[in-house]
Amino acid sequence: MSLFRIEGLVKRFGGLLATDHVDLSVASGEVHALIGPNGAGKTTLVNLISGLLEADAGRIWLGDRDITSLEDHQRVGAGLSRCFQVTRVFANDSVHDNLMLAVQAHAGSSLRFLAPRSREAGLVEQAVALADRVGLADERDRIAGTLAHGAQRALDVALALAARPRLLLLDEPMAGMGPDESARMVALIDSLRHETAILLIEHDMDAVFRLADRITVLVQGKVLISGSADEVRGNPDVQAVYLGTEAEGGV
Ligand SMILES: Nc1ncnc2c1ncn2[C@@H]1O[C@H](COP(=O)(O)OP(=O)(O)O)[C@@H](O)[C@H]1O
Ligand SMILES: [Mg+2]
Repeated sequence: MSLFRIEGLVKRFGGLLATDHVDLSVASGEVHALIGPNGAGKTTLVNLISGLLEADAGRIWLGDRDITSLEDHQRVGAGLSRCFQVTRVFANDSVHDNLMLAVQAHAGSSLRFLAPRSREAGLVEQAVALADRVGLADERDRIAGTLAHGAQRALDVALALAARPRLLLLDEPMAGMGPDESARMVALIDSLRHETAILLIEHDMDAVFRLADRITVLVQGKVLISGSADEVRGNPDVQAVYLGTEAEGGV
């Protein structure tokens, strides 16, 4: 039973069919990679899923809930969190204060009935646990803007996790990272698969094949193939697309 699915999703920009009747499903606990050459429609699809863009047709389901008409913040409340290529980190605040804001925003009902002091302690505990979760335990007092790029991305992941997502959208989390930072991010994403399903857009094919349980290949707005990593890797149409776009730095 899939945790998340989209059916017949369509997005037009004028005459361009950027999302062409896309079906896609993500199972619980699955890391699902979305790949395809530049201009294939990956970012458009993620924007439709997160609610930044409105679809022209089709439906989006999270569990048994139809979230097609929800606003983006309502989708976060329903269990869909997104990490941004441009991070939402408050650069002048400490790592801990960034996490406290995120935890407070999503505290919901769990702490509502506690006395203020216990409530504060509960929030601090959650913020500390999140820093630990993404490898920033020793950086909690650092001003976020002074963190290395990889650590800022890890903080962005922690901010998304504060919403306790059932599906986490990651749009190129390894962008701009060197090999060490990439390896740490791959390990972090790998460690999250038991907490949340993940839809991962990524150009780094080594990372994709290391992490993905299933891969969907988009080409010109359409799904070319959706299958296991081995099925996708061995598919001649996929190889043709990738060999054809290599010269432009596609993929
Ligand atoms: N806001 C927009 N207005 C018009 N065309 C757009 C817009 N956003 C994306 N496109 C077009 O839609 C297609 C898919 O783009 P995009 O989703 O960014 O692809 P990808 O992320 O796979 O590189 C491209 O042809 C792009 O030029
Ligand atoms: Mg893109």
